Amino acid sequence: MKKCFWTLFCSILTVLVHAQSDRQILLETKNSALLLSVGANQRVTQSYFGKKLAPADYALLKGGREVYLTAGMENQNEPAIRIVHADGNPSLELQYVSHKTTSGGDSSTTSILLRDPQYPFEVTLYYTLYYNEDVIKAWTEIRNNEKKPVQLTAYASSLLHFNADAYWLTQFHGDWAREMNMVEEQLTNGIKTLESKLGTRSNFYQTQTFFVSINKPSTETEGELIAGSLNWTGNFKYNFEVDQRNGLRVISGINPYASNYNLQPSETFTTPAFLFTWSGHGKGEASRNLHHWARNYGVMDGNGSRMVLLNNWEATGMNFNEARLVELFGEAKKLGADLFLLDDGWFGNKYPRDNDKAGLGDWQEDKKKLPSGLGYLVNEAEKQGVKFGIWLEPEMVNPKSELYEKHPDWILKLPNRPENYGRNQLVLDLTNPKVQDFVYSIVDEMLTKTPRIAFIKWDCNRSMTNTYSAYLGSNQSHLYIEYTRGFYKVMDRLRAKYPSLPIMLCSGGGGRTDYGALKYFTEFWPSDNTDPLDRIYIQWGYSYFFPANTITAHITGMGKQSLKYKTDVAMMGKMGYDIRTNNFTPQELQFSEEAVKTYKRISPVIWRGDLYRLVSPYEKNRAVLMYVSKDQNQAILFNYHLNSTRSDVFGKVSLQGLDPKKRYRIKEINLFPGTKSVIADNDKVFTGEYLLQVGLALSARTTPLTSNVYELTVEP
Ligand code: GLA
Repeated sequence: MKKCFWTLFCSILTVLVHAQSDRQILLETKNSALLLSVGANQRVTQSYFGKKLAPADYALLKGGREVYLTAGMENQNEPAIRIVHADGNPSLELQYVSHKTTSGGDSSTTSILLRDPQYPFEVTLYYTLYYNEDVIKAWTEIRNNEKKPVQLTAYASSLLHFNADAYWLTQFHGDWAREMNMVEEQLTNGIKTLESKLGTRSNFYQTQTFFVSINKPSTETEGELIAGSLNWTGNFKYNFEVDQRNGLRVISGINPYASNYNLQPSETFTTPAFLFTWSGHGKGEASRNLHHWARNYGVMDGNGSRMVLLNNWEATGMNFNEARLVELFGEAKKLGADLFLLDDGWFGNKYPRDNDKAGLGDWQEDKKKLPSGLGYLVNEAEKQGVKFGIWLEPEMVNPKSELYEKHPDWILKLPNRPENYGRNQLVLDLTNPKVQDFVYSIVDEMLTKTPRIAFIKWDCNRSMTNTYSAYLGSNQSHLYIEYTRGFYKVMDRLRAKYPSLPIMLCSGGGGRTDYGALKYFTEFWPSDNTDPLDRIYIQWGYSYFFPANTITAHITGMGKQSLKYKTDVAMMGKMGYDIRTNNFTPQELQFSEEAVKTYKRISPVIWRGDLYRLVSPYEKNRAVLMYVSKDQNQAILFNYHLNSTRSDVFGKVSLQGLDPKKRYRIKEINLFPGTKSVIADNDKVFTGEYLLQVGLALSARTTPLTSNVYELTVEP
C-alpha cells in the first residue's frame, strides 16, 4: 500500500517554467530555505538563505547578489565561473532560461538553466534537497555549444551569499598522525582560502569540511551556521570572501589550480556536488543532519552493520608468515572479532614487500611468506570462525617492482626531471584507461580467484608531486581532474560487480576523507595515530561531519594508557583491534572478550543513533559525548578524562536528546574485571527531565586518562 502510494505520488513530477521577470524559485528543506529570484535583466540572484520563513514573507525578499557570479563583465569579486570563449572573449553573462523540479522519494532536484545571450554557452545549476535531513547538494553542469573549444579557468560547484555583521570559520587542518585539528577564527575582509593541491591523499593537510557561523561563534546547541563539504576526492578549494560591505561569499569547488579545462564543442563539464546544511541550533544539529544524510545517501551501506576486525599492521608490520597469521586468526576468534585483516607486506616476488621500498604494484602473494596462497589463508581463517580481509594500495608503484619495469608509461612522472618519491613510491596514471583496467583487474582477479575475501582496506600513501601524464600529452591541465574521474570509474566498475563488499578508505592515515569517495566505501581510517588521548581529539573532529559507523578506531599498542581507556575510546567509533592479544593478562583478555560482546550489543545505538557532544576536549580536560537511539529508549554515554589534574573540577553534565517524560536507568558498563562502578548515580533511575536539566556527576574523581561508559535504558 505504502509503496503504491509512493509510486503514484512520488513518481517523477516535472514542472517546466519559462522565463519571466521577478520570478522566485524557493528551495526549502524541513527547517531551511534558499530563495532565488529572476530579475528583470534575467539574472538569477540569491535573495535569501537561512531559517525557513512563513510563505507570505518570501515575497518581501527580492534582488540579492548573483547566484553564480561570472567573470569578465561587471563583477569585481572572485567569480564562481570564468571562461574564455573560442574567439578569445574572456567574459560570460548568464541569463535565466527555464527551471524544473523533479521529485522522487524523499528528495527533489531543481535545475535552473542559464545561457549567455551572445554565445551558445550554458550553465545549469542543480540543487538536490534532502528535505528531512535538512541537507542540500549543489552542483553545476557547464556546456559548450560553441563550435570550438572554450577554456574554463574557474568552475565552482556552488556559491552562497551571506549578509551578517560577522562570520566565524571553523576549519580542520592536520598532517600525518595529527589529523583534524579544529581552529575557529573570525573572517576578516579579503579572501580566506582553504584548499588542497595534493591530487591524491588530498586531505593530508586540510580537510574539505568546514563550518561558517553567522554573527557569532556557534556552540554545540546555539547559533546559526552552515556546515559544508565538497564531494570530491581530489584538489578542492573554498574561498571565503568578505567584501567592502561585509557581505560574505562562500565559493566551493574543484581547485582550478593548474587545471584550466578545455571544454570541447558539445561537451558538458559536471562539477562535483557541494554538500551543505543550515542549522539554527549550533554545530550539534548540523552534525546530526549530515550524519542522517550520510547514512541514508552518502556512505556505502550507511545504515548497515559493520564487522569488528583484528588487523595485523601495528601487531606485526610486514614481518609475518603463514604460521604467524594462522595464530592471529585464533586470537581474532578468541576476542570475538568477525574478521582478520591482513595488512601491507603480503605480496611481491621478484621484489618482495619486506619494507616500504619494494614490491608495490606486484599484487601476487609473496611465495616465501605465503607459500600456500591467499585461498589457504581464507580457509584457515574460516576454519577458526573468522572471515578474511586484505590490504591493497592499487593506485601506487615502487620503482623497485615488476610493474615499474614493465609499464614506465603508466606512472605519473615528469620527463627530463628526476623522479620524486613519497614513501619510496610513485602514483600510477589513473587518467589512462589501461591503468584503470589494471587497477580494476587487481581487485577483480583477486576476488575471482579467492571469492571469500570479505573485506578490503584500500590505501593511498602519497600525494602527487612532479606530476605529468604520458597519456594526456598536451592536455596536462586536465590531469588532476581526470585522475579523480579515473578513480571513480574504477570504483563504479568494482561496485557494479561487488555491490556489498565492505571496503575501508585509507590514505596514509586520514588523507582521504570525503563524501565523493565514501559513496563507494563503508568506513575510513582516520589516522595512523591510535594513541587514545590523541584519538579523542581526532575522532571528535571527524564526528562533526561523519557518522560513527564510518570512523574506524582500533585498539593498539600505541600509547601508555590502560586497555580499558583504549577500548572506551575505540567504542565511540567503529571499534576494531590491531594488537597482539597473546601478550594480554588473563584479565585483559577477559575484559576484551566482554568488550567485543558489549560493543556488538550497543553498536546499533552508536552507529545509527543521534550524537550529542556534551563537553569538548578543546574546552575542558575531559570529553563527554552520547548517542541516543531514534526511539529515545537507549543511550550510550562516554566520559573521558584527558591529562586532568587535581585543579580540574568536573561538575555535573546535563544530558541531551532524551525524552523528558521517560524514565531511564543508568548503568556503568565495560568495567574492567574485578572493578566496580564508583559513580554514586550508578544503577539508579532518573526522569529524562532530570537528566536534561540537572544532569549526572559522571566522574567520581579527576584521575587523568581514565574513562567511563554508561548505558541508559528506558524503564518500563
Ligand atoms: C598506511 C596506513 C596504515 C598501514 C600502512 C601499511 O600508513 O595508514 O594503516 O596500512 O599504510 O603500509
